[in-house]
Amino acid sequence: MQHTHVTHPAGTALVPLATRLETRGPVVLPALLLCDFGHLAREVERLQEAGAGGLHLDVMDGRFVPQLTYGLVVVEAVRRAASVPLEVHLMVEQPERTIADYARAGADILTVHVEGLADPRGTLEAIAALGPKAHLAVSPNTPIERVLPLLDHCDGVLVMSVEPGYGGQQFNPVALEKLAALTEIRTRRGGSFRLCVDGGISTETIGSVAAAGAEFIVAGSAVIRSRNYAHAITELEQLAREAA
Ligand code: DX5
Ligand code: ZN
Repeated sequence: MQHTHVTHPAGTALVPLATRLETRGPVVLPALLLCDFGHLAREVERLQEAGAGGLHLDVMDGRFVPQLTYGLVVVEAVRRAASVPLEVHLMVEQPERTIADYARAGADILTVHVEGLADPRGTLEAIAALGPKAHLAVSPNTPIERVLPLLDHCDGVLVMSVEPGYGGQQFNPVALEKLAALTEIRTRRGGSFRLCVDGGISTETIGSVAAAGAEFIVAGSAVIRSRNYAHAITELEQLAREAA
């Protein structure tokens, strides 16, 4: 896909996404959802120092999913505090109305749900034209057939391994079938989309998603509820590498 250059508002010298995320093998993206939002900048700093290759931000509007989390102002604050790439996971109704704002706020990856899009292809192309990588998320109950016609129009597919809405839920193995099917399709047909997974990732489950082909692996509670972020990230990435 064609991408325009994005200048981040904070003027941070960002290491390009390509070198931070795409050359490391399976990479863990900590999700901020359960972090201490009273000390957001410190949490971002701790996660970066712990080796996070990027950060995953869950934007929920209380309509597309029951929970209401945060929006643009918090994404901008994280952007100012972070030098690693940011993935903004939009769990909102009519995401096409806000993609330009999140692109301007400094998202490196904008992830939209196939279930919430009136014109999936148009929205993915609009994201790419704004600059960020365009990723398509698919919820556990949504058949993979919904994303197949869109694979040439996105930079990544985020396979949800929990129902979107909350951190700390149990991993749903339906994600493994989807990841394996997408890996097989990419091998057979060719394609450059990245395989990503989100929800219920732990030391118990990360090996199976990496073996099924997941490359960008979101981990919320497994990192944030650990005593030592660096230890948690290193251990998860090592387990993923061994299984991939
Ligand atoms: C769920 C969110 C996830 C969540 C992951 O709707 O999309 O990103 O933060 O948290 P864990 O890893 O605890 O399932
Ligand atoms: Zn998420």
